[in-house]
Amino acid sequence: MRKHYKLLSWAVGSLLWLSSIPGESAEVKSTPESSQEFLHFGNMGGLLPTLAATDLKDAESPGAKLVYRFCGQCHSVPGPGMHTHEEWNQVFWRMIWRMQVMRAQFKDFHVPTYGESQVMFSYVTGHALQAINTGDVAPDAEGAKEFLKICMQCHRLPDPAQHEARDWREVVVRMKSHMKNMSRTIPGQEETDRIVSFLKARAAKKE
Ligand code: HEC
Ligand code: HEC
Repeated sequence: MRKHYKLLSWAVGSLLWLSSIPGESAEVKSTPESSQEFLHFGNMGGLLPTLAATDLKDAESPGAKLVYRFCGQCHSVPGPGMHTHEEWNQVFWRMIWRMQVMRAQFKDFHVPTYGESQVMFSYVTGHALQAINTGDVAPDAEGAKEFLKICMQCHRLPDPAQHEARDWREVVVRMKSHMKNMSRTIPGQEETDRIVSFLKARAAKKE
């Protein structure tokens, strides 16, 4: 069913694109010819992080390179870890569709083939966020309050078991730079330490 959904959104987008290629008697359109002429949305007012090509996980992989090339055309490049696999099922194919719609208007806009889309989809879902529900967190546990307050501001609540204890501080430090770039509440040092302890205590491999 999911596969059909993807193929369908890709096919519908392609049809839109094909139908926009003017025939001989087509009217001259007044839309701008170059996609450079329209606004690049940047990080969309804090909806997305600001990542360099090398900040992407597995940056040298074909999937990361394609994501950097195609997904940076309208806004800053999203990190694969900001959505769960389930969420990417929706968001990713909506973006492919958006590209096809854009290609209908701008001749120089790059649209991935279905094969390239599949490579990108495997990449984002392969590095997707693993989430838990707020109900899975005992609210009285040490650091739980801070974790719930800070770590759900941009994506679903992360599962502490997706990293080893020794890796969590570095991840949290990276998240703090996103909080700055995306204008969200940044925890102070004490709050940060409590969140890191909370995560470490539930990590895949303890220290
Ligand atoms: C044609 C321009 C365009 C391209 C190219 C594009 N996007 Fe988007 N993107 C948008 C627009 C417009 C929005 C805001 C509206 C929306 O969410 O649909 C958005 C929002 C997003 C968001 C935040 C919204 C959410 O639901 O999380 C993510 C994540 C995202 N895009 C990922 C991607 C990925 C991954 C790619 C490459 C496969 C990509 N985008 C390529 C136009 C584009
Ligand atoms: C300001 C928005 C924002 C907040 C708040 C935030 N994150 Fe993230 N998070 C992101 C973005 C953007 C990504 C994808 C890019 C990346 O991986 O750096 C991400 C990805 C992740 C990932 C998957 C990638 C990986 O390295 O495993 C984990 C886990 C994660 N965040 C944990 C957390 C934790 C824990 C907190 C609370 C301390 C937190 N996040 C708070 C924006 C945020």
